[in-house]
Amino acid sequence: MTVRSALTQRLEQEHPLDTHPETRVDFDRVQLAARQRYDRPFLLVDPTIVRTKARRFKAVMPRVQPHYAVKANPHPTVLRTLIEEGVGFEIASIAELDLLLELGVPAEEIYYSNPVKSRAYLEYAAAKGVQWYVLDCVEELRKIVAVKPDASLYLRIEVSNVGSDWPLSGKFGAPVPDVDGIIDEAVRLHADLAGVTFHVGSQCRNPENWRAGMESAKRVFRSMKLKGLRPRLLNLGGGYPVRHTKPIPSIEVIGEVVNRGLAAFGPEVRVMAEPGRFLVSDAAWFVCQVVGTTTRGGKRWAYLDAGMFGGIIETTEGLQYDVVTERHGKLVPYTVAGPTCDSVDVVMRDQLLPDDLQADDFAYIPNAGAYTTAYASNFNGFPLPEVRFVGVGS
Ligand SMILES: Cc1ncc(COP(=O)(O)O)c(C=O)c1O
Repeated sequence: MTVRSALTQRLEQEHPLDTHPETRVDFDRVQLAARQRYDRPFLLVDPTIVRTKARRFKAVMPRVQPHYAVKANPHPTVLRTLIEEGVGFEIASIAELDLLLELGVPAEEIYYSNPVKSRAYLEYAAAKGVQWYVLDCVEELRKIVAVKPDASLYLRIEVSNVGSDWPLSGKFGAPVPDVDGIIDEAVRLHADLAGVTFHVGSQCRNPENWRAGMESAKRVFRSMKLKGLRPRLLNLGGGYPVRHTKPIPSIEVIGEVVNRGLAAFGPEVRVMAEPGRFLVSDAAWFVCQVVGTTTRGGKRWAYLDAGMFGGIIETTEGLQYDVVTERHGKLVPYTVAGPTCDSVDVVMRDQLLPDDLQADDFAYIPNAGAYTTAYASNFNGFPLPEVRFVGVGS
């Protein structure tokens, strides 16, 4: 069960749903783009929405510098837009690092937030001038220090992911009993363990997770100081949600929780966050086509030309997309699958779609700019989705 404080409840009542008007590309434009040209699934992105979202994030949390999680959508036009907005970056690999360096991003604005990195990747990033590296265990601490003894380090701690549609705990994040051992080892190695980070889970619909995460970070700061370290970076991670089918707290609600929590961190502490989904998801529609429909054992099926290998993958872990079509038949539950021969390629169950849906119809998914094209592969020979931009031949 999700536990909500009186503060969160009050804030949610004041700003109940995220109904901010900027959060969608105009559907007429999307339909027009599909009619003008369609040869494979595509994402239609409006960079002005990316811009607006970056500004909104900064306005709500003025003390928090956003560092975009490149993995959400690494398209160079998206990255360029965020560079123009003064956003920094968080990377998971050296390919992401190269992409940013080619676009002229200074290495010092790039944070290496993948908790377990290969020695070769660390050497490459260090040679390119990356200064800040995350870790969540003593083995990674020793590995980083062996490659770059003067690295600035931040510790990823485990926090609650309750109420997040795409939980990220379990794989990464030091559990409380491990934290002291990591701090002790940093002291022994004379390493500059200088900050704390956490991830509340992606598409986090529970603002309490940020409050609790900051409380935990405060305790870890205290332990670091007691042992002679100089913590000065608080990294609030990602998780800021966008609208799909479930209600979400607005960024203003989350911002109030964060801003209150920040009062406990002195001016010597630099605060950053790693929003991915929030900055790009609303800026795009994913457009694909129905390959075929059928009824099997009394259940309706729709096969699309993009499934879990073609960019629609987050639904397999419970995220629910809205799917818009141009049919007006009675809405009935469908099983929706991708075009490949793999039986795991089933992306939605009991998705309400019109009973007259047919092959060659378009299926439009709003707010799908994050974690769609970035995930896609050529499995079975199907093409990668194209990324198109509003106003550029669309
Ligand atoms: C370390 C790290 N930071 C930030 C993000 C971005 O999260 P979100 O897109 O939910 O904001 C992720 C997502 O997986 C991540 O792993």
